[in-house]
Amino acid sequence: MYERFFEMSHSPFARDIPPESMYESKNMEEVLARLGYVADRQLFAVVTADAGCGKSTLIRKFAASLSKEKYILLYLSDSKLTPRWFYKGLLDQLGVESKFYRGDAKRQLQKEIEIIRGIEGKRVVCVLDEAHLLEKETIEEFRFLLNYRFDSMSPLALILVGQTELWDEKLRLKRYSAVRQRIDINCVLTHLDRAETEQYICAHLGYAGCTQELFTGRALDEIFKVSRGIPRVINRICEKALMYACQNGHKLIDDHEITFVVEHEMLGGDAA
Ligand SMILES: Nc1ncnc2c1ncn2[C@@H]1O[C@H](COP(=O)(O)OP(=O)(O)OP(=O)(O)O)[C@@H](O)[C@H]1O
Ligand SMILES: [Mg+2]
Repeated sequence: MYERFFEMSHSPFARDIPPESMYESKNMEEVLARLGYVADRQLFAVVTADAGCGKSTLIRKFAASLSKEKYILLYLSDSKLTPRWFYKGLLDQLGVESKFYRGDAKRQLQKEIEIIRGIEGKRVVCVLDEAHLLEKETIEEFRFLLNYRFDSMSPLALILVGQTELWDEKLRLKRYSAVRQRIDINCVLTHLDRAETEQYICAHLGYAGCTQELFTGRALDEIFKVSRGIPRVINRICEKALMYACQNGHKLIDDHEITFVVEHEMLGGDAA
């Protein structure tokens, strides 16, 4: 609706932003590099961040960066996964009908992975999103999945992605120590700082083909203050501000307009 008014080719803050147009902060760049290493070496990694900080988006970018000739990526984001459904979910993605019992399904998966490694010459990378919601039993199952050939090697790369409580309320606990000890790499996605928030907004506007300045420096200060550098919140504020400015015929958005939309157009829970 406001796109034509601001001469944009499409919506700047849409969730389906293609990987090549995504903003990459230094921190994201580092996490992506580490995940590349995890895939290559078939390691076990954990990625955590606060809600809306870009974990799933980062995984989308990571998936796009993996060579299809070298890797097979399996992605699950079902928080209600029991161990049996975990194996079934992975086997489904490999196009194999899973056996009913957990032990059988696990052996089936290990066999499939061995075929992929040995015959197809590819490596398997398994990403579990929303891992902070996983049941204890499923988390403990990773131990058995990673224990291969008498625990001498890992058959796949496993990446758990979840909100900060994945560490604080789960992995840090004593009962998960056997799983925790197997974690090779721990990555944390941070909030954006003030400069990164501005670059992030510019990247989105650039993606929409908008070259003019839309937010004053003070407006950017205010967006950063309210959003605390969380991409999902930045998107919502900017989206509302663009709509509001369009309705009022303003081409440049200042800090008062940001304060107004935050107070009047966003529900309390929308801001960080
Ligand atoms: N690097 C980025 N470039 C462009 N947009 C981004 C980036 N990071 C996050 N976003 C945008 O921010 C929003 C929130 O990101 P995302 O869903 O990845 O967060 P999350 O950490 O997975 O959140 P949750 O914990 O709720 O699952 C998305 O709409 C996404 O498009
Ligand atoms: Mg997510």
